[in-house]
Amino acid sequence: MDKMIKKATAFEIVNHWALAVSFFVLAITGFGFLFHLEQLNSIFGSFNQMRVVHNWAGVVFAVSLVLTVFDYLPVSLRFSSDDVTWILKGGGYFSKKVKSPPQDRLNAGQKLYYLAILLLGIAAAASGLVIWLRPDVSDIKKWVLLSHLIHNISFDLLVIAIPLHIYLASLANPGTFRIMVYGTVPLDWAKKRHEKWIKEIGAE
Ligand code: HEM
Repeated sequence: MDKMIKKATAFEIVNHWALAVSFFVLAITGFGFLFHLEQLNSIFGSFNQMRVVHNWAGVVFAVSLVLTVFDYLPVSLRFSSDDVTWILKGGGYFSKKVKSPPQDRLNAGQKLYYLAILLLGIAAAASGLVIWLRPDVSDIKKWVLLSHLIHNISFDLLVIAIPLHIYLASLANPGTFRIMVYGTVPLDWAKKRHEKWIKEIGAE
C-alpha cells in the first residue's frame, strides 16, 4: 500500500466543510433574493425566514473563512521565482510536455486563489454586515448603497470561482478530493505536486 502523509488536520477538514456548506446556503438564498424566486421563499418558510438563514450562514462563512487564515495565509504569502515560473507555464495544465517547477504545500495557483477568495469573502461579509445591521453612522444610506454594490460584485465573482475550484479539487486533479475527507494523500502524489513542502517536512 502507498505510504500516506497528512495534508489537512481534522480541524481544517471540518472548517472547510463549514465553509463549503455555508457558501452553498448563501448562494442558493442569494439567488433567491436576486431573482425573486418565490418557490425558494416557500422552502424556507417565508422571505424573512430566508433572510435570517442567509444572514446566519454568512456568519458561519465569515468565521470559517477567518479560521482558514491559520492554515493557508502564511504559505500563500510566500511567493518565490518558482511560483512565478509555475504561473508563466500555466501550472502545466495546457501541455503534458511542460515541466512545472517544484511547489510548496499550496501551488502558485492555489496561493493566488486563496488570496482572491479571502479578499472577496471579506468584502462580501463586511458589506453584508452593513446591509444587515445598518450601523448608526452619518450618511448610512450612502454606505448601504455602496455595500449593496460590493456585496453583489463579490457574490458574482465567488459564484464563478467556487465551481471552478470544486472542479479543480476533484475531477481535474484526481487524488485531491480525498484531502477533504481523510486529510491524507499518497506520498508519491505529494512529491510530484508539492516537492518543496515534502522536502521541508522531511517526509521523503
Ligand atoms: C464541496 C465543495 C468543496 C470541495 C470539494 C473543496 C475541495 C478542496 C480541497 C480538496 C482543497 C485542498 C487542496 C490542497 O490542499 O491541495 C481545498 C482548498 C481550498 N478551498 Fe475548497 N472545496 C470546496 C468548497 C470551497 C468553498 C465553498 C470555498 C470558499 C468559499 C473553498 C475555498 C478553498 C480555498 C481558498 C482553498 C485553498 C486554496 C486551494 O487549495 O485552492 N472551498 N478545497
